[in-house]
Amino acid sequence: MGNKKDSFDEFVDNLQQQIIEDELKEYNEYIVNLFHNPKNWGKPEDGEFTVEKAYKGPCGDTMQFFLKIEDDAIKDAHFLTDGCGASVATGSQATLMTIGKSLDEVQNLTPEEIDEALHGLPDDHKHCAELAVRTLKKAIKKYKKKES
Ligand code: FES
Repeated sequence: MGNKKDSFDEFVDNLQQQIIEDELKEYNEYIVNLFHNPKNWGKPEDGEFTVEKAYKGPCGDTMQFFLKIEDDAIKDAHFLTDGCGASVATGSQATLMTIGKSLDEVQNLTPEEIDEALHGLPDDHKHCAELAVRTLKKAIKKYKKKES
């Protein structure tokens, strides 16, 4: 019995290792780590965010941000996406670059800054940073509209 479990665990470990090796052929280590350990992933409890906005990008993938806003600054940020692995990394990075910033600072955030913070997305995934930035800005726009 114990042996069966050990060989299954070994099989899963090998598979995981193989997946990571394949990802590292296309993405750098920092990005692969975010695929497997996304930051600020998931919808917070109702009442723990001020505004929520989902946006479907031209690639067909959707990103969703949940922002807690106080005194014109982002106190907390969470996200979800049904997109590619790179969108998980760009969403994570976007939340890290957003928390503690003023709304004006976040509205000036560019896909290039996210790309740089990720130490470079592959060329065919640069647009995933664009999805994160567009969604974030739409969330802020929605909040401002609500407030006015
Ligand atoms: Fe659509 Fe990456 S391919 S977000």
